[in-house]
Amino acid sequence: MKPSNTDKARFFLSCFLILIFLYMLASNQLQDTLPSPTTSPQQTNSSSSDSNLRILIGILTLPDQHLRRHLLRLVYSTQPQPPSVKIDVKFVFCNLTKEDQKILVALEIMLYDDIIILNCEENMNKGKTLTYFSSLPELLNETVGSDPPYHYVMKADDDTYLRLNSLVESLKALPREDLYYGYVIPCSSMDPFVRYMSGMGYLVSWDIVQWIRDSEIPRKQSEGPEDKVFGEWMREGGKGKNRYNAKWGMYNFPEPPTKCSHELWPDTIAVHLLKNQEKWIRTLQYFNVTTGLKPSKLYHIP
Ligand SMILES: *[C@@H]1O[C@H](CO)[C@@H](O)[C@H](O)[C@H]1NC(C)=O
Ligand SMILES: *[C@@H]1O[C@H](CO)[C@@H](O)[C@H](O)[C@H]1NC(C)=O
Ligand SMILES: *[C@@H]1O[C@H](CO)[C@@H](O)[C@H](O)[C@H]1NC(C)=O
Ligand SMILES: *[C@@H]1O[C@H](CO)[C@@H](O)[C@H](O)[C@H]1NC(C)=O
Repeated sequence: MKPSNTDKARFFLSCFLILIFLYMLASNQLQDTLPSPTTSPQQTNSSSSDSNLRILIGILTLPDQHLRRHLLRLVYSTQPQPPSVKIDVKFVFCNLTKEDQKILVALEIMLYDDIIILNCEENMNKGKTLTYFSSLPELLNETVGSDPPYHYVMKADDDTYLRLNSLVESLKALPREDLYYGYVIPCSSMDPFVRYMSGMGYLVSWDIVQWIRDSEIPRKQSEGPEDKVFGEWMREGGKGKNRYNAKWGMYNFPEPPTKCSHELWPDTIAVHLLKNQEKWIRTLQYFNVTTGLKPSKLYHIP
């Protein structure tokens, strides 16, 4: 007699249930063999923090840019943090050179603790980016309980406005290895495998950060426009097999209109070239950043 479809279905269902049972048994035994005490907070949390996303955003700037840092802290600390994601925004610069910086920057660190001072002399296109990426593994080597310290590391300019939620959303489906993410150059191109990602803000996975520290390739070639040079490392090293073009989620501010600019629009990850206060204000206005302001009789903002 031919088995009916319901018989077949029953058969597959029981196979499935048996598999689930075996799986549960196996994972229970696995748990039993874990070193005790399994209830310590660090351990119960380490597995969940593995699945959580950790992102470092390094904003390359200059020691004297106190006001710009003030603005950036305002806009990032008031942005809602995406759930179960850790995003650290840090300001990155080279050695201090002036007496007043030693006081003012130290005070900023006492209050915010969001500054990384690299061992270098301030420069734009003479290896600051290399120093940034290649220093991170040592700088973060004592971050306990998280390996890697960050899944992704970004380099951003201080005239770029990032929308953290959109950034995280765009990363969710992407690999956490060998990833090179950003706004493809040239502006008219949508192919991330031809040239490089714009310095407005590009992101790589942690394995690439380690590669930058270990490989000879970046060291041989550290001078020149930093974003272009970075793309050349990736090509020469055969790195960034996973690439993601975030255009037109990332773009230059609409004015002046160029091939790289775009109207402000809701699906935005980053707006670049916010060179003056007016451009910042227009951008922040567009994204309704003050919607969460609580009403109070202590102030009135029309
Ligand atoms: C795990 O971490 C979260 C926040 O990071 C904390 O609220 C929670 O209490 C921790 N769980 C345990 C079991 O320690
Ligand atoms: C940066 O400062 C440190 C500590 O003061 C010093 O040891 C180092 O030589 C300086 N580096 C450069 C490139 O000037
Ligand atoms: C971290 O790196 C420093 C050198 O920068 C080294 O002295 C220290 O032992 C390292 N720590 C770990 C845990 O590897
Ligand atoms: C900002 O708020 C206005 C008015 O509520 C709304 O129409 C607009 O879509 C919002 N813009 C964005 C980018 O969310």
